[in-house]
Amino acid sequence: MSETVAKTFYLETFGCQMNAHDSEKVVGTLRQQGYRQVPTVEEAGLVLYNTCSIRDKAEQKVFNRLADYKKYRAQGKQFGVLGCVAQQEGEKIFERAPYVSLVCGSASYQNLPQMLVQLETGGQRVTGLDDRETDKCFETEYTARTNPHRGYITIIEGCDKFCAYCVVPYTRGKERSRTSVSVLEEARQLVDLGYSEIQLLGQNVNSYRDPDGKKTFAELLAAIASVAGIRRVRFTTSHPRDFGRDIVDVIDSVPALCDHVHLPVQSGSTRVLDAMQRLYTREQYLERISWIQAARRDISLTSDLIVGFPGETEREFEETLTLMDVVGYDSVFTFKYSPRPNTPALGLEDAISEAEKARRLAVLNDRQKQIGAERNRRHVGQVLEVMVEGKNPARGQWIGRTSQIKVMNFTVPNGIELTTGSYVRVRVTGSFPNSLVGEMAGA
Ligand code: SAH
Ligand code: SF4
Ligand code: F3S
Repeated sequence: MSETVAKTFYLETFGCQMNAHDSEKVVGTLRQQGYRQVPTVEEAGLVLYNTCSIRDKAEQKVFNRLADYKKYRAQGKQFGVLGCVAQQEGEKIFERAPYVSLVCGSASYQNLPQMLVQLETGGQRVTGLDDRETDKCFETEYTARTNPHRGYITIIEGCDKFCAYCVVPYTRGKERSRTSVSVLEEARQLVDLGYSEIQLLGQNVNSYRDPDGKKTFAELLAAIASVAGIRRVRFTTSHPRDFGRDIVDVIDSVPALCDHVHLPVQSGSTRVLDAMQRLYTREQYLERISWIQAARRDISLTSDLIVGFPGETEREFEETLTLMDVVGYDSVFTFKYSPRPNTPALGLEDAISEAEKARRLAVLNDRQKQIGAERNRRHVGQVLEVMVEGKNPARGQWIGRTSQIKVMNFTVPNGIELTTGSYVRVRVTGSFPNSLVGEMAGA
């Protein structure tokens, strides 16, 4: 590779916010090593994919990308696979895509600088793979903050829950938390960089356990919210089993904590939840929901749902529909069950056909459209605080998000230019199943 080409990289990210934030760390590390990020594969000497393997489709994406760009290998480009597919498939990736020269899971990103040197000196099969027992976290001072509005902080990595369908415990290793001292330190750094909205991240963020024993998760939320300059604190994803009433209490008493809880239920049937090894029943889940609904603040609720888990009967599927009615989610992410390598559910019988899964998914999405529309209608007439995220020049409207994480498209009086990252008050004039519209009511 020529020197100029070698020092450019292209990075595409798939998957969850943990991956998005890991990519910020990867970008920071590469820049520190003298690399420059470029917007296209064509311009890059090193092409990286930070991958997701949560469902088969997500995994296939990376192999499709690699096949698309195979032609560039002749030009001396190098290809690297990072993230969850890398950790899951390991060296098998070299067999499947021989033009890949780097395979690296998330717990090994600390070693990227050495791996880059290996690549630069002609390394063909450079790997960074960890077993499930690793204690390593990827804390780096070189995080490039590429999200302009929201500062991410990973507070807990990995997962020890082993839901029967899920790859995460295998791709992200065992559960390990950072100290509250280092989390708070990072929050202060984010304020110095100009962020006022912080999002705490973890596969199960509320399973957080301070290694120093200083703070519970709820106490950490309050401490982050009290850092001078922080106006909004979000956290995702919460696991129902570990969701305590203290989280609702702290949201109620600390204004900077946002009015939103993402609490994935997966299924409304206790029988299916048990088969999924989710560690709670329908009733226990609904009890947590009742705590949230009893809060003084109007906390929006979102969830993840899976249809067509092996053996899910029509009646059990309907229990998911009735649970959605009872909860009244503001929005949900819905998925067809996808069999994944290494997971216990792979061995289960009574697979549901693709056609039936697709039908159930459509029914669920239809139901949520109605529920979401109704939930959003309650905001019409209210004045809500919105963080400005950008402008849609085509429509002459601004776009932002409410504390409840709802998308707001809004107009401003003629001649007023807003800055992204600022906060305005917006009167809601209309609503859709997935967004609100309004007009600016003040700064
Ligand atoms: N830790 C979080 C979720 C992480 S994965 C939790 O336990 O709630 C994000 C979502 O992907 C899950 O909530 C689940 O709905 C979905 N998912 C995970 N594995 C899946 C699979 N094999 N098939 C379909 N959806 C899956
Ligand atoms: Fe996957 Fe379950 Fe862990 Fe969530 S709690 S990451 S669904 S194993
Ligand atoms: Fe995907 Fe890995 Fe996240 S499997 S959802 S990128 S933890």
